[in-house]
Amino acid sequence: MDDIMDDIRTLECIMQERCHETGIAPDAADFCHGTLREIKEFHKGIYAHSLRVGFYASHLAEEEDKSDSYVRLATLGGLLHDTGKIDFDEDLFTGRQITIEEYERLKHHVFAGADALRPNLLLTSIIAGRHHLKPNGKGYGIERDLPFRSNAMHKDMLAYCETLVGMCDWMDALFTRGGVRVGGMPIDRDDQRAVAALLSEEFHDYPDDAVALSRARWLYANRL
Ligand SMILES: [Fe+2]
Ligand SMILES: [Fe+2]
Repeated sequence: MDDIMDDIRTLECIMQERCHETGIAPDAADFCHGTLREIKEFHKGIYAHSLRVGFYASHLAEEEDKSDSYVRLATLGGLLHDTGKIDFDEDLFTGRQITIEEYERLKHHVFAGADALRPNLLLTSIIAGRHHLKPNGKGYGIERDLPFRSNAMHKDMLAYCETLVGMCDWMDALFTRGGVRVGGMPIDRDDQRAVAALLSEEFHDYPDDAVALSRARWLYANRL
């Protein structure tokens, strides 16, 4: 437990600074910190994961020369993508093998997260609702339904940030969980060949393999 608390303290410092740097508006930052506090209270592992995904998405958006509003949305989307998990039984997150029925139930965290965030952070709520959807439509999530006259930039920002956060989320799971497998065999996160094999499987779900590959390389090199 001490290790995870040390990791969390480091990540909290990094992300506090990052939220400040990216110029997230004070009311959005307050809401984000309040929600993150609830996630921390609920489950330290999910909290640390949220901070890492926020870090990855935020820096990758900047790395890809996106404008400030894209970087801010990627940051908030990464930090809050799993907010809906706090509605579930803590017993689902002990690291034990969950059943197929439990996995099906857990998929609803995307809807719960979107509902929880919608009143305060509309665009971020859509990312939370869609972070398990791949660009080719595989996966599960909400419709990208904007209840206001949205402009083309909102749509583009969402399309960009959903995919980015989804990939950072998936890669963080790969780096931090022991249970990731290739061809039925567990793999070590430092086994570069296995990681590359896994990535090439995953890339079938992305339309532009070159972008996905360069993100994967960046994530691998900068993993926390
Ligand atoms: Fe998730
Ligand atoms: Fe996640």
